[in-house]
Amino acid sequence: MYKIAVIPGDGTGPEVVAEGLKVLAAAGKKFGFQYQTKIFDFGGERFLKTGKTLEESDLEELKKYSAIFLGAIGHPEVKPGILETGILLKLRFSLDQYINLRPIKLYNSDFCPLKDKAPEDIDFVVVRENSEGLYKGMGEFQNKGSQDEVAIQISYNTRKGVERCIRYAFEYCRKRNKRKKLTLCGKTNVLTFAWDLWERTFHEVAKEFPDITIDYAHVDATTMWFVKNPEWFDVIVTDNMFGDIITDLGAMIQGGMGIAAGGNINPAGVSMFEPIGGSAPKYTGKNVINPLAAICAVGMMLENLGEDKAAAAIESAVIKIVGRKLKSLAAGKMGFSTGQIGDLVVDNLV
Ligand code: IPM
Ligand code: MN
Repeated sequence: MYKIAVIPGDGTGPEVVAEGLKVLAAAGKKFGFQYQTKIFDFGGERFLKTGKTLEESDLEELKKYSAIFLGAIGHPEVKPGILETGILLKLRFSLDQYINLRPIKLYNSDFCPLKDKAPEDIDFVVVRENSEGLYKGMGEFQNKGSQDEVAIQISYNTRKGVERCIRYAFEYCRKRNKRKKLTLCGKTNVLTFAWDLWERTFHEVAKEFPDITIDYAHVDATTMWFVKNPEWFDVIVTDNMFGDIITDLGAMIQGGMGIAAGGNINPAGVSMFEPIGGSAPKYTGKNVINPLAAICAVGMMLENLGEDKAAAAIESAVIKIVGRKLKSLAAGKMGFSTGQIGDLVVDNLV
């Protein structure tokens, strides 16, 4: 019996989570796994009412769950940064979800903005470090508000943090068993402390994985290759900030935010799965947002729980309807409502 903590969150989060749960229920019935869910109301509305983001006791409670399914965090009436750091990043950090796993997979070339790229050309995974780097929140102001102001934001990289991320990426690449190629995406030519550590660690860990081909690309070049030759990639490992940036580009070449899902993974603890698109306030309550990213996040969650058949069935159903039915993956242009897309996935679960 799995215990799933559900955080619908803000904006269109609750709408896409509802469709994810619809598909989860159908998959449970079909593949014979049992689960219970509990809804947690963390998000902008609760913050506006109570001033609370996430308490220690909330985190303790969440540690009892098998997995977390998150909709979106971000509210137009709350100053940017409060909910992101107080809820989303706090969850990632406190639960030590040190990997952010973001598959970039094109399901239908019609939805790819790149010319002449087919699904077989865009099929790779970004392993983003999720607990350190520039996201650590270290730094300071000097002479704040004056003409001599200095703002310092530190990228914090520990050998242990870098090594566990890189080792995870190698293992993931081996298990994925596609091209068996791992690319380190960094900036060794300018950021000579952080990327020296990353590069040294990468080469040391690589010795344990002689079956994996290694490669390196600077982050700026990586964005170029995403557009020009995405077929070169199999698995990419990178730091928190670069991973954040390149996965938005990745989402675009796989068809947009409507389809992009990610997992915040603690291999020894509680992991959290989310559509990466955000709360999309302008589409809230209109039943037009694409729930496929949230549905794919449920698929990733089930794979992580060991329900491989159910996960594969969800992916096949998504591929089927993206290939044959939808006019577009963008909110409001799909030719179907949010709820109808959830139903289509359920109908195609075999
Ligand atoms: C993401 C988001 C978050 C991040 C924001 C909302 C804090 O952009 O999941 O990629 O920067 O990690
Ligand atoms: Mn992002």
